[in-house]
Amino acid sequence: MDGRNETTGSIAFVIFGVTGDLTKRKLLPALYQLAREKRIPERIDIIGFARRPWDDGLMQQVLTEGIHEYARISPVDNKIISELLSDAKYILSEFEDRKGYDELNRHLDDKKYRKVIFYLATPPDSYANIINNISACQDYAINKEWLRIVVEKPYGRDLNSAQSLENDLRKCFSEEQIFRIDHYLGKETVQNILVFRFANGIFEPLWNKNFIDHVQITVSESTDVGTRAGYFDTSGVIRDMFANHLLQLVTLTAMEAPYAFNAESVRDEKMKVLKSLRPLISKVALENTIRGQYDDTKIAEKVLPGYLHEDRVAKNSITETYLSAKLFIDNWRWANVPFYIRSGKCLPVRATEIAIQFKQIPLSLFNWKNMAGEAPNVLVLRLQPDEGITLSFGAKLPGPVNQIAPVNMEFCYQDAFGSEPPEAYERLLLDCILGDQTLFTRHDEVIEQWRFVTEILKAWEENPVKELPKYQIGSWGPVESEQFISRDNRNWRNLQG
Ligand code: BG6
Repeated sequence: MDGRNETTGSIAFVIFGVTGDLTKRKLLPALYQLAREKRIPERIDIIGFARRPWDDGLMQQVLTEGIHEYARISPVDNKIISELLSDAKYILSEFEDRKGYDELNRHLDDKKYRKVIFYLATPPDSYANIINNISACQDYAINKEWLRIVVEKPYGRDLNSAQSLENDLRKCFSEEQIFRIDHYLGKETVQNILVFRFANGIFEPLWNKNFIDHVQITVSESTDVGTRAGYFDTSGVIRDMFANHLLQLVTLTAMEAPYAFNAESVRDEKMKVLKSLRPLISKVALENTIRGQYDDTKIAEKVLPGYLHEDRVAKNSITETYLSAKLFIDNWRWANVPFYIRSGKCLPVRATEIAIQFKQIPLSLFNWKNMAGEAPNVLVLRLQPDEGITLSFGAKLPGPVNQIAPVNMEFCYQDAFGSEPPEAYERLLLDCILGDQTLFTRHDEVIEQWRFVTEILKAWEENPVKELPKYQIGSWGPVESEQFISRDNRNWRNLQG
């Protein structure tokens, strides 16, 4: 990473909603790790802004505990923590209260910060207030070398609200200043999709409709909605996972080679994929999406509560905790190759993968017992956990009996490089500090993602159901989803954790 250690000067890192889980679990452990590896300037000053009655000391204490609990590498180095947090300041304010922003501005002025990052880590319903208050205070921009804003997903809940958020953002900031985080893009293995495809000569010629039967993308989570039930019930898998992480994985899998590896050309290519998605409108949306909800499930004599029995979930909620969909990318490379996508809570394992399933051989020469059955060649990019890549093919079983057995060729990150990949937030925060937007979502991508998803939401709204298909906790989703793919004579892959 050329020049990545060259940044100098102090940065004010202003976290709106500093009291929330994200700061403690992700942001501070990531900043700590970057400081430990000396990748950021000597001084990065944390300024927290939130509504809870905390003060500087309490914020420093909570964030220190967070680093101890969530740091990627232990034992932690207390000297680095205290360098990071000893000057941290807390501003207690409502997000709509002008006085809080005046205090923030005075602090930035007094300390003469020339580089400022505003980080929106609040619930999204506060975004407009914060952005408008920032935008009302043009003084922030005075005497600054740079000023950036990081926005956490969800950016809006449909096309209209996303557009309105974008308008608010762009009133105050230029596109170069806006960093929309999709943490999936910070994962090493997700970045490796492009390296795998475009730094190797042997795969790309096969990467198209002539050789590929279909693509399956799975983001499976074994946990339930937990303490986030209130938020989740207003989102569902479609807004929480599909509108962002899953569509981003689709774009990286399907995009053409960019003319260079820089923010604009990579995002230009991803944009073309989003624009080529065959719209799922009305009846077509209903036919190509399957929703489900996890149900009360008896496991070892204990009944685990289903989604409708979670706290803060409406008793008649039709929010999906499972979603599968079939997408098509209408361009020359992918014409008529289905992309089957699924994601859900309370599935058997936590596992994320992209499986490229190749076409069958045109004619079987071996009239032998095929233990692989009809198993075709599959290339699996395993994004988490056990990050790696597997290619499956058939081999002759040793011995006098003629049989074909399925075997794998494996690459495993841990074995090859001997270390755990860094956390997504480490890379993303560093890139934001360095001003590199390649791994952040551009304005037009967000809008295009919502344009696609809003049609699905509209179809669901216009064809209301009283309840959703149910599935048992620890199963692979509703039976309707199995039927959905088997109608195409295909099966979902059975992932291991
Ligand atoms: C978040 C979603 O964006 O991604 C969560 O809001 C989900 O609901 C999480 O659990 C999954 O992220 P990861 O990195 O654990 O796969």
